[in-house]
Formats: sequence, structure tokens, C-alpha cells
Amino acid sequence: MQTNLRGRDLIGDLDFTKEEVETVLDVAWDLKRKRALGEPHAYLRDKVLAMLFFFSSTRTRGSFEAGIAQLGGHGAFIDSETTQISHGDTAKEIGEIFGRYFDGIAIRQCDWDFGNKYINDVAKYSRSPVLNMQCDIYHPFQCLADLMTIMEKKGRDLRKKKIVVSWAYAASYLKPISVPQSLILQMPRFGMDVTLAYPPEFKLMPDIVDQAKEQAKKFGTGFEIVDDKDGMAKAFKDADVVYAKSWGPLLTTSDKVEGKKIQDSYKNWITDEVKMKMAKSDAIYMHPLPADRNIEVTDAVIDGPNSVVYDEAENRLHAQKAVMALTMS
Ligand code: CP
Repeated sequence: MQTNLRGRDLIGDLDFTKEEVETVLDVAWDLKRKRALGEPHAYLRDKVLAMLFFFSSTRTRGSFEAGIAQLGGHGAFIDSETTQISHGDTAKEIGEIFGRYFDGIAIRQCDWDFGNKYINDVAKYSRSPVLNMQCDIYHPFQCLADLMTIMEKKGRDLRKKKIVVSWAYAASYLKPISVPQSLILQMPRFGMDVTLAYPPEFKLMPDIVDQAKEQAKKFGTGFEIVDDKDGMAKAFKDADVVYAKSWGPLLTTSDKVEGKKIQDSYKNWITDEVKMKMAKSDAIYMHPLPADRNIEVTDAVIDGPNSVVYDEAENRLHAQKAVMALTMS
């Protein structure tokens, strides 16, 4: 187990080694236990986290803000719209200046072909650790909470367990591709066989898929892609974990109108009870939320006995507290 994470950034899922992720999970469970017992755990007294948002959030904002307070510190919520970023403050200036004010800088910047670059640019100039609250490529804290949840439900040894990471239809907006990309990178390291399913226009970034395949090879796990127009139910077959959510056809087009038109041709990609029957009877249903109810997933599934979406959302708090405590102390 590696414990020297002080001062480290977490921007991409593979930034922490498998052993370092194991340390994060170990600390997360300890902090979860301490919170359940009402035991104080103020490891970050007097520390302040900047939380810079370029995009809306419910869970990420709530869990980071509650988490830093529970660790004895303070979270400064900063909406990019109310800063001088739109009047010229550069990533270098945010890194240099916020890095001097704050003990950590957490950023959500999901703009396609920009967000990850922006977060890395801030990190280059920051003397404090930079934490990725979601970009166009990765959502690493969601993935840590997901891994924690899967282990709680399926046991710490995930070898031979099948996770299906599937596209699902949504009507609300073209969602980032960061969640499925983080999942396919991280889950093979913990022994899971990954099946990635999407309609042909919803490919993920080739470089990320190559890295995910490399991880699968390194850790001796399965990695399969199902890209048939009607592949959703087929992909669910015998799954232990069903993780089905929408993302935009960003590798095909970044035009919102054209993307919506493509998306609208796959309305049958909804997680419903019929498709869930293809998975194992004790399969868990996961979604990072927000979900388009009765479009992306039926109420019967998301509110049903196999759904773990609220435990998954809770674990954001514990996983993020662990990373903050390890990197910002
Ligand atoms: N899952 C997730 O990141 O939720 P929010 O967009 O509400 O933060």
C-alpha cells in the first residue's frame, strides 16, 4: 500500500497507481466509519479548498463542500461566471494565484476538447494540489465512489465480475463522455471484466479505449465492445453490474443539433426491467445521476431493488474526503 500522496494532483484516473487507489479506498472506509460513529476526524483544520465550477452540479458541489467542512476545513464555492476569468484571467493566473490562497484547487470544466487541458494548465502553475471535479475526458471522483460502491455490494475481490458500461438514451442534453471513460480505465485494475456498449456513433476516445485495453491485458481481465445498433440488451447478459448512462456522440459530431438528431434515433436504449432480466438476478444498477427518468432508465429500475444509486452518491463524500485528507494535509 502506498501512502505518500501529499501534494499530488488527481486529474486522470490513472494518475494514482492501483496501490494508491487502494490506500484511498482504505481511508474512505475509515472516514465513513468515523462519520457513522460521530467520531471527529478534522485532518484538514484551517485548510481551504477552492471549488471552481464552469458547469452546474448537485452531488459534486454538495459532497466536496460537506466533505472539506467535516475534515475541519472550508470549501470556497466559486462560480466561474462571477470571476474575472471571462475578462481575461488565464489558467496560469488561476494556478499561480489560487495556488497561493488555497490548500487545494478543485475544478469542474467539461467543455469538449478544452476542460482537461484547462485543468492541467492550472495544475502546471499551482503549488497546491489540483483535483478534477469532472472534465471532458475524466470524472475520477465519480469513479472512485463507483468502485467503492461495487466493492461494498459485490465484495473486495472483483475478479470474474462483469460490469457493462452502456450508453443510454437521454433527451436533456449531450452529456460528457467522462464517466464511461473513467470506468473503463479503472475497473480492469480491480479485476472486473468490462463490456462497453454503445450505438455506432457513440464511440469513446480511441486513446482512452487503447489505455483501457492495456489495463485489461495487464490485469488479465476481459474487455469487449458491443457497438451494434441494438446491442444494449445483448451487452447486459449475465452482468453483475449494470452501469448505463447517456453521453453525447462527441467523436462523431460536436454540433449540438446534429448530435441531438443522432441521439434521438436510439430511444430504445433505455434501461428497463426487461433488459435488466438479461443481467444476473442480483446485478446492481448504477448511475452517477442526474438521470433522465423514464427516458434513460425507468422508475421501476432506478427505484427498484437492484438500484444502488443513493449509496453510490453517498460514497462520493467518503471517497473525496479520503483524497482531500491524503493530498491536502
Ligand atoms: N454525478 C455527478 O457528478 O453529479 P453532479 O453533476 O450533480 O455533480
